[in-house]
Amino acid sequence: MRKQTISFEMTVFDNFDDLSVEDQKLMKAAVASRQNAYAPYSNFLVGAAVLLENGEIVIGNNQENASYPSGLCAERVAVFYAGAKYPGVTIKAIAITATSEKYVVKEAAAPCGNCRQAISEYEQKQETPIKLMLMGETGEVLKCNSIGDILPLAFGKSFLG
Ligand code: THU
Repeated sequence: MRKQTISFEMTVFDNFDDLSVEDQKLMKAAVASRQNAYAPYSNFLVGAAVLLENGEIVIGNNQENASYPSGLCAERVAVFYAGAKYPGVTIKAIAITATSEKYVVKEAAAPCGNCRQAISEYEQKQETPIKLMLMGETGEVLKCNSIGDILPLAFGKSFLG
């Protein structure tokens, strides 16, 4: 047997102002999008903005439902919308941010496991890394180089033979 360590590197920015102009633009799109979230049950509003290789920015926000599991996270709304509108166009980066009607979100909002899996599918398909930028309302912004970094040992189509 052997032991193995999996680690990854990310960049931590003290706040939004420290991002590059290009990254600020993408994060601003996510911030604008979170305001349009439909989240009457959790009061937790998430915005996502997907930057495509063709320069387009596609947005998404969480859409909840009285039948809770029928709702969908912001990240999946955004990447599925991108896949539907611009099929086969490479995704370069996704910015994610969250706000709450109950408290100030000071911690960077990271995608849930289901969203990591969904985004990973596109990264594996396009064979180039999808960068992630994660932010709350205030506080540090985390920049990851690849969705694969935060979904180690990912499941993918190769398992299906
Ligand atoms: N949510 C997202 O939109 N993205 C995530 O990655 C985590 C959770 C949404 C789903 C639900 O509408 C609300 O946040 C509370 O879980």
